[in-house]
Amino acid sequence: MLKSKIRASAFLFNRLAMQSSFLFLLILLFLGFSQKSQAQEKSLTPENDKCLKCHTHQTFTFQNTLTKKEDKRMSNPLYILDKNHFAAGVHAKFKCTDCHSSAYSTYPHNAELKLEPLSTCLDCHGGDEKYAAYQFEKIEKEFQKSVHFQKSGESFTCSKCHNQHYYQAKSRTSSVVGEIIGFSNEMCMTCHSNNSKFQLLSDTLKPALSQIHGWLPNQELHFKNVRCIECHTQVVDSLSVSHNILPKEKALKNCVECHSKNSMLVASLYKYKNLQSRSEGGKLNTIIANKSYVIGAYQNFWLNNFSIFIFIMALAGICIHVILRIIKK
Ligand code: HEC
Ligand code: HEC
Ligand code: HEC
Ligand code: HEC
Ligand code: HEC
Ligand code: HEC
Ligand code: HEC
Repeated sequence: MLKSKIRASAFLFNRLAMQSSFLFLLILLFLGFSQKSQAQEKSLTPENDKCLKCHTHQTFTFQNTLTKKEDKRMSNPLYILDKNHFAAGVHAKFKCTDCHSSAYSTYPHNAELKLEPLSTCLDCHGGDEKYAAYQFEKIEKEFQKSVHFQKSGESFTCSKCHNQHYYQAKSRTSSVVGEIIGFSNEMCMTCHSNNSKFQLLSDTLKPALSQIHGWLPNQELHFKNVRCIECHTQVVDSLSVSHNILPKEKALKNCVECHSKNSMLVASLYKYKNLQSRSEGGKLNTIIANKSYVIGAYQNFWLNNFSIFIFIMALAGICIHVILRIIKK
């Protein structure tokens, strides 16, 4: 009688331990799902359709003023815009002619329009309090120290990395680290994996990235899980994204900088997240939403203690079970 009661309670205990870990998993899953990516749907200005009717297609038609006939031609692939990327970008509410001359509304475009100077980020955002959080002026100062600016000067504009049509503040708006990394590294790759773009700024051929980084094991995995700027800039505490690309001799080669408990990634890649989660008090959330979890780098007090708790519960369950089996005999 007593034995069966003890057995029943042991069974209950085991079940409780199992249920609590199951419950914990459910909570984890729920938190993961509630972090949907906040894809902002912005509608495009209708005036833009006039431009996009040509600038999104492989071919375009226009009224040939000499032959008085309608002509169909091939588009220059470099002048084809991605409508969806534009709509997702920070400047989606703009008319094309806010940045480009209104004289573009006729085709053939006037040849002199090619020479039209276009605004840079600072022309519009410099000194504007509304955008103070982005620290445009400080970014510009940092950028001017970088190898790119030092070697290429004014011709290396911000827009070389930040396409004004498509730019998104990904590291702020996305909660998926993999997405932030992809977006960031793609900027570097527009030149470092494309010789014609590279040679617009340099007389030499672009060096092969896979050879230069031959010393790095699992290269592909690393390029998917860390931003290029992690190794190629020094962390600036007051900036969310450091813009000073250092000379190659100063690039980070030391594995321990990332593969340790005090990983520098916490101060760079995860910096914005850290600040955000500190203010929202939900560090667990950010960890779960992160696809990459650097072993040893991102320790969490509650997660650690909770897993120890579950481990002890399971161990206690087994011990009690064994003791009861012995008593039963
Ligand atoms: C009938 C088709 C057509 C329309 C409509 C059109 N474009 Fe173009 N656009 C072109 C083609 C083709 C080129 C390639 C260069 C050329 O042929 O002049 C071009 C080139 C451009 C360029 C690059 C110029 C350079 O060489 O640096 C810009 C910028 C541009 N268009 C903006 C616009 C804007 C803004 C509008 C709308 C107000 C617009 N276009 C409407 C066909 C068109
Ligand atoms: C926020 C400002 C801005 C808006 C809005 C904008 N552009 Fe541009 N556009 C630029 C800049 C800056 C460049 C030059 C990029 C460079 O040379 O680095 C450019 C370049 C271009 C080019 C030349 C090809 C290229 O990508 O370099 C085309 C074509 C063009 N724009 C068409 C358009 C059309 C069509 C729209 C409207 C849907 C539009 N732009 C809206 C700033 C803008
Ligand atoms: C022609 C002026 C102009 C240029 C050039 C320009 N911007 Fe903007 N930008 C704006 C305006 C205006 C807005 C606000 C748009 C809105 O409210 O939808 C904006 C919005 C933004 C935002 C979103 C701010 C927020 O908190 O919502 C970012 C980030 C941004 N721009 C970055 C850049 C960068 C980086 C460049 C250079 C590559 C650049 N901009 C070039 C005028 C400009
Ligand atoms: C060599 C490439 C490169 C150049 C040149 C460059 N940037 Fe950036 N910038 C980046 C990268 C990479 C990021 C990080 C993107 C991310 O994770 O969202 C970034 C992020 C930003 C951000 C977002 C910061 C935040 O707090 O969210 C702003 C604003 C910005 N850059 C402005 C500028 C301005 C202004 C210039 C020119 C003075 C410039 N950038 C030149 C590569 C560049
Ligand atoms: C784990 C750190 C790390 C990452 C991630 C990384 N690099 Fe590097 N990179 C280095 C180091 C260290 C060197 C210097 C290698 C040497 O001199 O032997 C270097 C060298 C370079 C060079 C100099 C080439 C030359 O010899 O002129 C370029 C360009 C470069 N990297 C671009 C990139 C780009 C683009 C990415 C992102 C896709 C990237 N790197 C990611 C550490 C890194
Ligand atoms: C617009 C094209 C372009 C983009 C975008 C670009 N680079 Fe470069 N980068 C160059 C050119 C050109 C050079 C060679 C400069 C020279 O030697 O004249 C260079 C050189 C470098 C070097 C070698 C510096 C040295 O000491 O020789 C590193 C490292 C580097 N880039 C990293 C990056 C990273 C990281 C990004 C992205 C955040 C990036 N680049 C984006 C064009 C670009
Ligand atoms: C800029 C930060 C950084 C540096 C520097 C760095 N790593 Fe990594 N490493 C990472 C990240 C992030 C991952 C991906 C973690 C994950 O998702 O499993 C990774 C993954 C790895 C993996 C694969 C682990 C697995 O789960 O398969 C190995 C092995 C590795 N790194 C070794 C090295 C070595 C050796 C060095 C030095 C030569 C180095 N790393 C330098 C950030 C870095």
